[in-house]
Amino acid sequence: LQRTFIMVKPDGVKRGLIGEIIKRFEQKGFTLLNAELMTIDRSKAEYHYMEHQEKPFFGELVDFITSGPVFAMAWEGENVIEVSRLMIGKTDPSEAMPGTIRGDFAAAKEENVIHGSDSLLSAEREIENFFGLLKRRSLEDDFPFEDRKSV
Ligand code: GTP
Ligand code: MG
Repeated sequence: LQRTFIMVKPDGVKRGLIGEIIKRFEQKGFTLLNAELMTIDRSKAEYHYMEHQEKPFFGELVDFITSGPVFAMAWEGENVIEVSRLMIGKTDPSEAMPGTIRGDFAAAKEENVIHGSDSLLSAEREIENFFGLLKRRSLEDDFPFEDRKSV
């Protein structure tokens, strides 16, 4: 089963979209493995966006993503990396289809509400960057299904 890293960006958190975004991933049938509201420092942000370090907007991108709390999540499911990118929509919200998260909620590519990993390799790197290796495991490990019925 695949895992991916999904993050509600500072604009999405400020606009109160965390619940709506969690709802869409839950309704799709994906499993939430970990989640945390956090304000990240520049080194975590630069590592997260390392593929863009030569881009002219890299400084602005790091300024934005460190400007306020983000809601970081790890999700698990069948083909979750590709499917979540479809649910998120195109980078530039003016090109994102209605029904996608960016199509429905975002207006500018500099502030496009949500991030999703684009490959297996980046998903692993991003989950580790935000949650560490120890937390990269399933809820099932800590809380087997049989035990949930008694709670
Ligand atoms: P992420 O899920 O955030 O990685 O978006 P993406 O995979 O759809 O796009 P990509 O990785 O190519 O770009 C990363 C982020 O850089 C985008 O989500 C945008 O928010 C931001 N970005 C792209 N172009 C520009 C730009 O011209 N200026 C600024 N400030 N940000 C940009
Ligand atoms: Mg990207």
